[in-house]
Amino acid sequence: MRDPDQRLFGAVNDGRVIGFVHAQIFQNPGGRAHKPFRFVSIELIAVTAAHQRRGVGRALIDAVKDWARSRKARIVHLGVYEFNQAAIAFYEKIGFKVGIRYMELTP
Ligand SMILES: CC(C)(COP(=O)(O)OP(=O)(O)OC[C@H]1O[C@@H](n2cnc3c(N)ncnc32)[C@H](O)[C@@H]1OP(=O)(O)O)[C@@H](O)C(=O)NCCC(=O)NCCS
Repeated sequence: MRDPDQRLFGAVNDGRVIGFVHAQIFQNPGGRAHKPFRFVSIELIAVTAAHQRRGVGRALIDAVKDWARSRKARIVHLGVYEFNQAAIAFYEKIGFKVGIRYMELTP
């Protein structure tokens, strides 16, 4: 994790990692619709089942938000499978909104 554009934040309890988030900074080159901007992408986030619903996930996202601000990133974004309704409820609760709609079909 020597790449300054990536961060791995961990939550530790009694010497054990109980959650982590991996985030990365990207530069959107801009185009006709918008100017170039920097954004943080959350690649992975997980909290061990035994420690969920205790504010650990929120604290991990807060760490990412602080990092994003310090790096002058305009947004923090992530992708989540539509079937993962628990994660969607979590993201919505802490303030995420749909910004880009990613669609798919079975060929
Ligand atoms: C999603 C995840 C990271 C949330 O972590 P967490 O530590 O449990 O979240 P928090 O305790 O900080 O939750 C904050 C708020 O989000 C909402 N929330 C969290 N989990 C929820 C759930 N399963 N269902 C509904 N709302 C939920 C609640 O409003 C919660 O506050 P409350 O407990 O006071 O009501 C965790 O459930 C997880 O690791 N899930 C499995 C991996 C996963 O799906 N990762 C995301 C892949 S995109």
